Order: sequence, then structure tokens, then C-alpha cells
Amino acid sequence: MAPIASKMPGNDYESCSSHNGNSGDHNLSNGNVVNGTTSNSINMSAATNFTITPCQIKAPLVVIIVGLPFRGKSFAAHKISRNLFWKGEDVKVFEVEEKTSEETLKYITEWFETGHNVAIIDGMHLTKQDRSIVGKYCRENVYHHLIIEFECEERCVEENIKDTAQFYQKVDNNQDWLQTFREKNAKYKNQFERCSPHEGPLINVTNSENVLIHSVKARGVQGLLQTIILGVLSAPVIKNRTFFFSRHGESEFNVLGRIGGNADLSSRGRKYSENLAKQLGGPGSNPNGPKPRLIWTSELQRTIHTVQNIPGPRTTLKDLNEINAGICEGLTYEEIQERFPQEFAWRDQDKLKYRYPLGESYLDLLQRVDGVVQALLLNTDVLVVSHQAVLRCILAYFKGSSPEEIPYVNVPLHTLLIVKSYGYDFKIETVPLKVECVDTYRIQPANCSIERTAADALKTVPAHFDAPIIN
Ligand code: G3H
Repeated sequence: MAPIASKMPGNDYESCSSHNGNSGDHNLSNGNVVNGTTSNSINMSAATNFTITPCQIKAPLVVIIVGLPFRGKSFAAHKISRNLFWKGEDVKVFEVEEKTSEETLKYITEWFETGHNVAIIDGMHLTKQDRSIVGKYCRENVYHHLIIEFECEERCVEENIKDTAQFYQKVDNNQDWLQTFREKNAKYKNQFERCSPHEGPLINVTNSENVLIHSVKARGVQGLLQTIILGVLSAPVIKNRTFFFSRHGESEFNVLGRIGGNADLSSRGRKYSENLAKQLGGPGSNPNGPKPRLIWTSELQRTIHTVQNIPGPRTTLKDLNEINAGICEGLTYEEIQERFPQEFAWRDQDKLKYRYPLGESYLDLLQRVDGVVQALLLNTDVLVVSHQAVLRCILAYFKGSSPEEIPYVNVPLHTLLIVKSYGYDFKIETVPLKVECVDTYRIQPANCSIERTAADALKTVPAHFDAPIIN
């Protein structure tokens, strides 16, 4: 993933005061945080001896992923990276074979010195000595430092080896990957020194796709970034997933170039709804074709009616409602320019941060859809039918887009998007369903100044049918 330059508000004040390991204990299982200890808790008298060096506020964070091969380290490293990047952090995964070398530490220093703030080292770091080198480097440079230790049940290890071998076999069939990976697992098995109560801050993950087995134990975790990471790790990584995304069919407001509101589908929008159903298990579909297990729509009638012919359990979610355009709800872009030219220019200047008066910004939306994305990641075969701005925010997670790119991601009407996991990455297939519709995509105009002419402001407004101004 490419690094980005700026950050989102809300991440600016990371607390990083010093405390002992005892006060920072959390125990997470299946996403629930329970303060206190469990039967397999750490030795507390040892833990109270462990202290965290005070670190400057906003200091860069080094995350060290440790553990034997095939425990899910790389999946988790990239899941954390994707989540933080989506939230506007400057994050990069540094892959190392076994342990961090001097050279990697040099790259990390450069990474931080050029304005980035999170480095995730994905390696085994089998011995305490391997880990202490990175810890010392962080203390000397006044960086935050978080260790994530991965383990899993033998049965899961064998499944992971098989899955990884299958993945590699497709890419390169000249090697017996199953044999190679079994040997790799055996080779390191006896060399791993588990993290001791004196190492930390530490998150210990017992990794499994099974929510009843997956659990997370944390000690000394502090500040916003580490807390976000703890949350990301608390949910199991489900490896093979497919999601379907679509905007609603063309609405009567789309035809008129109006934004917001709760208009119903146009006749072409209803046609799209039928065609979408043919793709996804509805009337006229291929019996062996995909069928969503869950259907999520917004509360607005244009999304609800788009999925009416698709079989499956459905839920309407307020979080999937279109961006609230506040005082501009129901207007065309031309009407916004006429009534609120300054607002229109400010939005064009910074569409990510701009908040409609009495409405929302894309930054607001990103926060609103966070829960939807986290819920999606616990599922597969979900169909999400929502709106342009909301889908831009959700798809950005899977595309690895930075927040700055989000307001201009093109999500056309009458197009099914199929997102499939590919290792720790995702691939997006675009399937246009060939039902004519208006284009609602307005690119940023060249002139965003508040002194611009109406003609300059409206230069990139897509064509639509003329409509009278609503009073
Ligand atoms: O306001 C409704 C649109 O779907 C969002 O489009 O953010 O590109 O103006 P926009």
C-alpha cells in the first residue's frame, strides 16, 4: 500500500503515559473486552515488574509481529496495515525472513524521518534476544513499541499450512509446497521462546477462524493506535471471502441530477433491479451462480427496492444511508451553486473534510461505516446495496485507497462489484449490467476558488434532465 501524507482529525492526540503492565490488562475473546484475568493469565507478580518507558505524544509506532510460521502473522500484519491506512495513518509492513536486521531498522528510521508514523515488522523474532534488539532501538529513538505474539492450535497450524500451500501451488506448481511448508514448520518449532511477562506492551493472539477459539490477551496497551490494533486483532481473520456491492438502481432524483432525498427507482432503475437479481440467485438466474447469504441495504427506498427480487435474509442499516447533504438535500449541483456558491467552492476545495451545513462530510462517513466494514469482515457472501458516497468509503478499505482519494472513487450506477479475498489482499471485479442510466460522477473542477464564475463551477457537472428548483 502506498503511504499517504496527511492524517485524519481525531488521531492527533495519542496518550502515551507510562504505567505498569498490571493497569493495562485487557482480555478479549470474540470481540468482547473483559478487564481482569483468566485462567491462562500471565504471572502478575512478574508483570508488575514490567514498566513502559514514557514516550512522546505522537511518537511513531513500531509493531513487531512474532511467532512461528503459519500462525497467521502476515494476514494480521496486513489487516492492521489496511485498517490504519484507511483511517489515515502512514503505515507500512516491513517483511523480514526471521528477525529484524540492522538494514530493516535503517529503513524504518528513514520511513519515520520522512513523515510516516507506523511500521509493522512481520517476522518470526523467535528468541527474546531477537525481540530485545527492536525494543532497544525503539527506546533509544523514543518510538512507541508493541509486540504481537501469535500462536494457534495444532489443528489450525495444519489447516494454515494446507491453505498456504494451495495458494502457492496455484502460483508456482514446480515445487511441492505442502512438503516445503511442513518442513519449515518443523524446523523452527523448537526454537521459539515465548514472550515473557517482561516483554511488552504485548498482545497475545490465539489465532483461529473459529470465533469460539480465537482470543486475544493484552498487557500494557496504551494510546489510540495500539487500542485500534487491539480491536482489529480481536476479530478472527476469515481467509476466503466474497462480497457483492452495488449502488441502488437509477432513481428519479438521479435522472433529475438531484442529490439526497428518498426518491424511488426510475423505470431504468427497476430494470437494473431485475438484472441484478438475475446475477444473484433471483428469477432467471443460473442455479449454480452466486447467492448472497445476507443482504444489507440502507433505509432508503431506492436501495430496498433494488434488492426486492433477490432471495435471502435482508437488513436495513442506517449506517448505509447516503451522505446527509444538510441544507443541500434534494438540490441539483446547479441549484447548490446558485444558492450557496461559497459552500460549493469550499466543498470542491476539500471534499474529504467539507461538511454540508446541518449534514455530513466524507470524514463523518468514514467513521459511520467503520462498524459496517468490521461486520463485513466477520462474514462472507454479503450483498451490500447502498449509495455513491457510502460505497466510496467502504470500497476504499478493500482497494487500499487513502482517505484523500475516497471522494473521487468512481462507483458507477448499474454496476455490480464483486470483491474476493486473495491471500491477505482483495481483488475487485467490475460487472456492468448494461442497463442505461445517467452518470452521476462529477470530477473536481480545475477552478475551486470562491471567486469563480458559475460556468467554471458547473463545468464538470454530469448531464441530467432539466428540473425546476424546489422551494
Ligand atoms: O450527494 C450525493 C452523492 O451521491 C455524493 O456525491 O459526494 O460526489 O457529490 P458527491
